[in-house]
Amino acid sequence: MKDFAPYSPYVDGITHGADYFPEQWLDREDILEEDIKLMHEANCNIVSIGMFAWAFLEPSEGVFEFGWLHKVLDRLNEAGIKVWLATPSASPPRWLSNKYDDTRIVNELGHRRKTGERQCSSLSSEIFREKVAEINKRLAKEFSSHPAVIGWHISNEYGPWDYSEKTVSMFRDYLRDYFDNDIEKLNKSWWTAFWSRRYASFDEIDAPSSNGDNSLHGLTIAWQRFQSFLNLDFFKFEIACIREAETRHLPVTTNFHIFRQMEYGFDYTEFAEAEDVVSWDDYPEFYKHPNEPWKEAAGSAFIHNYCRSVKDGKPFVLMECSPSATNWQEFCRLRPPGLQELMNLFALAHGADSIQYFQWRKSLGSSEKFHGAVVDHGGSDTRVFREIASTGKMLKVLSKSGVTGARTKAEVAIVMDFCNAFAFKNIQALSRNKPRFFDMFKDLQECLYSFGVMTDIVDRHSSSEKLSQYKLIIAPLLYAVDENFANNLITYVKNGGTLLAGPFSFIANLDDHVYQMKRPGLLRDCFGVYIEETETLLPGERVSIKLADVLLSRTDSESDIYTENFFDLMHLENACSLAEFNDSWYKAYPALSKNNFADGRAYYLAAFPNLSILSEVIKFILDEAGVNCLSEKLNDGCFVIRRENAEKKFVFYFNFTNENQMIVNKSALSCIDCDFVIPPETGVKMKPMSVRFFVEN
Ligand code: GAL
Repeated sequence: MKDFAPYSPYVDGITHGADYFPEQWLDREDILEEDIKLMHEANCNIVSIGMFAWAFLEPSEGVFEFGWLHKVLDRLNEAGIKVWLATPSASPPRWLSNKYDDTRIVNELGHRRKTGERQCSSLSSEIFREKVAEINKRLAKEFSSHPAVIGWHISNEYGPWDYSEKTVSMFRDYLRDYFDNDIEKLNKSWWTAFWSRRYASFDEIDAPSSNGDNSLHGLTIAWQRFQSFLNLDFFKFEIACIREAETRHLPVTTNFHIFRQMEYGFDYTEFAEAEDVVSWDDYPEFYKHPNEPWKEAAGSAFIHNYCRSVKDGKPFVLMECSPSATNWQEFCRLRPPGLQELMNLFALAHGADSIQYFQWRKSLGSSEKFHGAVVDHGGSDTRVFREIASTGKMLKVLSKSGVTGARTKAEVAIVMDFCNAFAFKNIQALSRNKPRFFDMFKDLQECLYSFGVMTDIVDRHSSSEKLSQYKLIIAPLLYAVDENFANNLITYVKNGGTLLAGPFSFIANLDDHVYQMKRPGLLRDCFGVYIEETETLLPGERVSIKLADVLLSRTDSESDIYTENFFDLMHLENACSLAEFNDSWYKAYPALSKNNFADGRAYYLAAFPNLSILSEVIKFILDEAGVNCLSEKLNDGCFVIRRENAEKKFVFYFNFTNENQMIVNKSALSCIDCDFVIPPETGVKMKPMSVRFFVEN
């Protein structure tokens, strides 16, 4: 028995495909036929269609033309290719934006946009909602029963922010509701006595702006949360329109994006609740680590883990990734041979049941004509096409082996909360160029991977019951936390859990209002320490750390132990010290503490140490928490990931380096596609940039 059904009742295994734009080729009947032939050659069986096709579905107001889409869907269906059908709200046609001014967003400085581009619509505009409702309902009525269609791709990457008067007035209502219509509650929460910024009524509130209020952090975070709320509200509205008119119930998703700048995004945990399947768009920036592609892979893995955890382990869809260069990035680097295939299988190992690219075919004009695609301007006789076809072949083998729906299990959870990320972005502390929030999480996750430890992601929406599943929870930088989640963490420790927190945590609530208590605030008893100050180091400056004997015995690189960035100066209360700072006036301040609290343990790591020592600290805590590691310490760039169902444990070995590697296997492994068995502890030989998959015996 499998843990999860396929992500749509209308697919029966792993799917593989791309965003497809037949509307760009309507005058070329031969292209559809050629595409179908090439999709078969590339072992692709799914496409997403229609996200930018509104101008062809409704070429003028109230005139609908669905014939071309019928034809495309019919042909795809005959060819056995499935379709995510998109709602077209991300890209309104010119006639709509031209005729209805208030459908166009207003920017931060109050300028209304001209017609043009995509993601430019004001989601508070009533007429925009009316028009979206009309097209969505018509599409649902017309196509929900089409046998090619397996699910709804709602809009495309919601956003950006809108500062129109209507939206700001909705923001005021949102705040009235949040603060029980009591402006004094808001004034207190936002600390508006500062610089005379007090509000006499909700009517005085405007959006934050670089040309207006930008120092009231309560306002800034409320605006961020409101934008997330408004976009989510629109998402739900689009779903409701579909549900009202569809004749066959299909799963819905929307593609999440820009995770790498999490602090600018939306609270996707709330979006996930509204959808049936989670999907996301992955655009790693490999050029940032040219010789260490696994660093970017680990970043992607973090988000795969998020997308899986947010639906309690349910497989997700990798809706977009570039098969080669991503043309909007700082450097449009090609994927070296093999890398794309590894990334795809990496996504699958983390719980993706569909691997899809942006884009199927390169356009001949406009801004994405040089973006990576499966089919090039010159056709399919390319390295990229061949690699994709080979990936497709592997996915078929895996699909046959029964991996679809299998669960990627984790005993460790990392706390990554969007509201916290928004707040951290604005804190005006530590340094002007704060370390990137996401990078700190990536380092941590890399350490965990080096021991074959999988992680889930939890956040303030996670219940006590959910937290209790984990042997270890790590809150690396939980600056903003509400009482409810703080209490859930305390309960988790009391009941025997192990909690590890990083510096600058538990300081403010979700309105970015600081708790007037010694840090770590509500969790002071739990950690048995208090923090008095936080120091920031200068670029290149390091402070060394001396480990207690119990940890020191585990590493031979004492001189290499240091922290950079920032660190807390803490005092022990009930906790004991496992490491101390060892330089300058910071000497003897604890760097790592441990407190036994009721049935559990709480560790406070006052600094983010360099990777090698972070790894030792993490291993020590993993052992104390009794976490099962899938492997012995792995070399950089190697990963062991497991997905399992009631019948089988699928194990994936990855080598993202350019060297041969040997990964020692703990259990016996059978090849998925042959009879070959590797006895335990013999080691699996890994060629450069390779992946191997087995079933664990
Ligand atoms: C995504 C977007 C796609 C395409 C892609 C290019 O963010 O959803 O439509 O523009 O970027 O990388």
